Amino acid sequence: MSISAADLKQAVANALAAISAASDLDLIKSVKIEHLGDKSPLSKASQNLGKLEPAERAEFGKIVGTAKSEVASAFDLRVAELESERDARVLIEERVDVTLPSSKIHKGGLHPLTILTNEISDLFLGLGYRVAEGPELESEWLNFDALNIPADHPARTMQDTFFVEPLDARLVLRTHTSPVQIRTMLENEPPIYIICPGRTYRADELDATHTPVFSQVEGLVIDRGITMADLKGTLDYFAKAMFGPDVKTRLRPSFFPFTEPSAEVDFFFNGRWVEWGGCGMVNPKVLEVCGIDTKEFSGFAFGMGLERTLMVRHGITDMHDIVEGDIRFTQSFGLGNR
Ligand code: PHE
Repeated sequence: MSISAADLKQAVANALAAISAASDLDLIKSVKIEHLGDKSPLSKASQNLGKLEPAERAEFGKIVGTAKSEVASAFDLRVAELESERDARVLIEERVDVTLPSSKIHKGGLHPLTILTNEISDLFLGLGYRVAEGPELESEWLNFDALNIPADHPARTMQDTFFVEPLDARLVLRTHTSPVQIRTMLENEPPIYIICPGRTYRADELDATHTPVFSQVEGLVIDRGITMADLKGTLDYFAKAMFGPDVKTRLRPSFFPFTEPSAEVDFFFNGRWVEWGGCGMVNPKVLEVCGIDTKEFSGFAFGMGLERTLMVRHGITDMHDIVEGDIRFTQSFGLGNR
């Protein structure tokens, strides 16, 4: 069945009308199938050309060709139009309002005790010290005996110790950082310059000024000709770095089995004396246990609480704030991401 020139004209008119009526890119796809697809009147007219006489075929072929290209270019034009309409619409619809409030991402921060520990470590590293560490679950011998605190010594009961089962393993949660002194002296030859910041444990109730898990920083120096003047000078330097250049320190006679003589160190801050920690010259008995020649070497040691240092320096009045981990407290110290 052949298609007449009039039918072809009609088919072209129909196609052009459908193309211009197609109002979006989906609709124009079906227009393409209907008017330019294999089964469209225009395609059928092409397919029929083969059946025509050669003379007729040339003439009608031209007409069909012109008709097809007219529809195809109208189609391309309309697609381009619809695409640019869509692009303009998408630009508006998907516009990002940069003035809208954003959802906040909270960055984590270091705990103030960690910030303080880093600060103290930096300070002493600058003086040529090393930072030493030891386990929190410690042998009773290192925590007490080696520090000249024998089993029947009252100092043993003064520190309310957490003993760990089984008891015959003789392990305790370290009551102070001083066992790290022994570990260091057993493992290293003098001269020794170390600090040891770390967690310590005593059976106290948590209240405004006590916590069963607390932190200390220990200092130990063993060298030739070390005197109490070196201890005092070091504590002065440390105190000034912690509390400001005007702070004063004083030593009060005291007793620790592992130092002789021993002292409490106080500092004068905001108009009052504050107890900071213990210190003294390392007891020769302790040096001997560690195999250090007391004729050649002497040394000093000190130990103070980090919570107390933080509380006094920052006017924190309740220990709960330090241990509870409320992010609002922690954030007031900054992120500490140094
Ligand atoms: N270890 C002692 C305490 O916890 C403090 C101290 C350390 C005293 C070093 C003297 C020398 O009480």
